[in-house]
Amino acid sequence: MSESRYTGLIGAYSDRLPLAADARPISLGEGNTPLVRLHNLTDSLGVDVALYVKYEGLNPTGSFKDRGMTVAVTQAVAEGSEAIICASTGNTSASAAAYAARAGISAFVLIPDGKIAMGKLAQAIMHGATVLQIRGNFDDGMRIVKEMAQTAPVSLVNSVNPYRLQGQKTAAFEICEALGRAPDYHCLPVGNAGNITAYWMGYSEMALAPGQTGTAACSFCQGDCQYHQQAVSTRPVMVGYQASGSAPFLRGEPVAQPETVATAIRIGAPQSWSQALAASRESGGWFDEFTDDDILETQWLLASQEGVFCEPASAVSVAGALRDIRAGRIEAGSTVVCTLTGHGLKDPDVAQRHAEAAVSTVDADADSVRRAILQRLD
Ligand code: F0G
Repeated sequence: MSESRYTGLIGAYSDRLPLAADARPISLGEGNTPLVRLHNLTDSLGVDVALYVKYEGLNPTGSFKDRGMTVAVTQAVAEGSEAIICASTGNTSASAAAYAARAGISAFVLIPDGKIAMGKLAQAIMHGATVLQIRGNFDDGMRIVKEMAQTAPVSLVNSVNPYRLQGQKTAAFEICEALGRAPDYHCLPVGNAGNITAYWMGYSEMALAPGQTGTAACSFCQGDCQYHQQAVSTRPVMVGYQASGSAPFLRGEPVAQPETVATAIRIGAPQSWSQALAASRESGGWFDEFTDDDILETQWLLASQEGVFCEPASAVSVAGALRDIRAGRIEAGSTVVCTLTGHGLKDPDVAQRHAEAAVSTVDADADSVRRAILQRLD
């Protein structure tokens, strides 16, 4: 009997991924994440924009990295690899560690000294990775792991590995399937620039060639593939947002000492620089930047007004969309999707900053609790 339950990206999109048919899928059921409409935020702004978030924090290890990792690790294992390596600001290492555990191979992860969120480090440790904390930043780590992939028996699973981007492109497929079309704008945080590159690839594969209609051959077949119905005729404008202290795309050159509270995107020398620029140019998009205060305020807004808890790096996409909607750069009537790349629980230290205002200590009796309730509702 064939399995009809969802078994992850490779099962769902095997005909659009460059994996050998007999490759053993290494999967944790990643993908198929919710597209959540943010009514509260747009209502309070009084704007007529359909604003959605693709909640990638609901992947198995809590970030979008799992989409790429399932494909990269499946391919590495198919090639006979017994160890993988990555440099990471935290999420890639958590994901690599989990998928390596699943595959029964070793993972080596290089992380910047003291600059990764606690939840991510906990994941890498619990999944049994060898964690190498380097006296340097992500960009230093990237330089070293590229060398290791040449000189040690390890497969590199950073997003310079093309199988990573192949997996990550599937988020664009899911969005088109959920909306029945491509959004007008796609907003996302940009760090190493792999994800913006992968989304653009996904949207491009999903789009029909100009002039074709729904009954013409789509990009994948001669008109009879199961995705044919879902082929769309447009691609979104791609908008990339960065933290001001780590904004090489805004500076037009690498940033030597990147800094930001959004540690996931504390990156000064993005590996997919030219592909991200191409995505931006081809789609008519732009880049913009946000201060740490803007980022944290938007993270709070999303959690407290929409019930969606994302990590700081993810919130920059919504900060950007809201600013551009308010400014009219994103026009009324548009459909906008923001990627929330990672779960808020990854970085509990950031949430602790709000603890003083949110947590009060009361005596353990009904009167005290009732008083606290009435005071709050007053
Ligand atoms: N958001 C989160 C939560 C991330 O972890 C990352 C990247 C990004 C956004 C940026 O995506 O690099 O494709 O432009 N994190 C990597 C890591 C670098 O090591 O976990 P990008």
